[in-house]
Amino acid sequence: PEDMLFSYKGILYPTAFSSPETLEALKSLEIRSDDVILAGYPKTGTNWLEEMVRELESADAKYTEEEMKERINAEKELQMFPRLEFGDPGIYERMKKLPSRRIISTHLCPHLLPFSILQGKAKVLVLLRNPKDTAVSYYHFYNNMPVLPSFASWDEYFAAFMNGKLTWGSYFDQLVEWNQYIDHEKIMMISYEELKENPILGMKKIAAFFEFSLDEEDFHRIAKKTSFQAMKEKSKETHGKFGDILFRKGIVGSWRDLFSKAQNEEMDRKFEDSIGRTKLAAKIKYNVYCK
Ligand code: A3P
Repeated sequence: PEDMLFSYKGILYPTAFSSPETLEALKSLEIRSDDVILAGYPKTGTNWLEEMVRELESADAKYTEEEMKERINAEKELQMFPRLEFGDPGIYERMKKLPSRRIISTHLCPHLLPFSILQGKAKVLVLLRNPKDTAVSYYHFYNNMPVLPSFASWDEYFAAFMNGKLTWGSYFDQLVEWNQYIDHEKIMMISYEELKENPILGMKKIAAFFEFSLDEEDFHRIAKKTSFQAMKEKSKETHGKFGDILFRKGIVGSWRDLFSKAQNEEMDRKFEDSIGRTKLAAKIKYNVYCK
């Protein structure tokens, strides 16, 4: 199990999905000003957001059948959805061949992103989720994914989450870093919880940020298509054998089943000490979703 993970600049990554050479080569990726960048810690709902944004983007672009085919074929050649730090070091060469607009997602923290992204070359949508549900979701993921080591117990896992000893590092560290960009004009933050509460309103905010124009009808169609039920039903097709692992419960508040009183207090303290009363804390609505 030890070689299931590797460490790069002090942060763990899964050997099955990435390598130090890939993370090194990432610097060579040329960002385009119309790239759509989606960033979020694992288990914050990144597959969901990715699907929503793909639908929003193509509804705005109104690609012809021919263009749609070209896009699908280019992705086939890439052998995956464009993800910044996934794959072999050659992916950046192959990503050059993708037609615009490219939708590129990442779990990386800001300081590991290609420099031009944060300099404002492209717009970045950052996905947030309350840390308690994120921790629970990641726990099930770790224990169900054959390419990741398993934890003997929730308690053992909880300590690893709190100490950032999981793939892509500490969620708290990532939040602290993203908070520095909260007022950046080319960065917008949205939360899993607000998307759950009102997907249409959430999608309208996303569309406005990326300057996509859609009809009311489009939003309703996409909300239906990207509901948890709809995505879960199609998951064998879209995500193969990982389908059942990626689409688990899709609700807010499942942390209550697993957190002990002491763990609950420990996380409250950690959140208070690291994110405290920042704008990002307000965006997460910790006091609503974690109390
Ligand atoms: P749970 O484990 O709490 O169910 P990621 O895509 O970043 O790996 O995040 C996975 C989490 O998003 C899982 O949370 C999954 O169920 C949830 N999810 C996936 N698709 C969703 C959807 N369409 N609506 C709501 N939640 C979704």
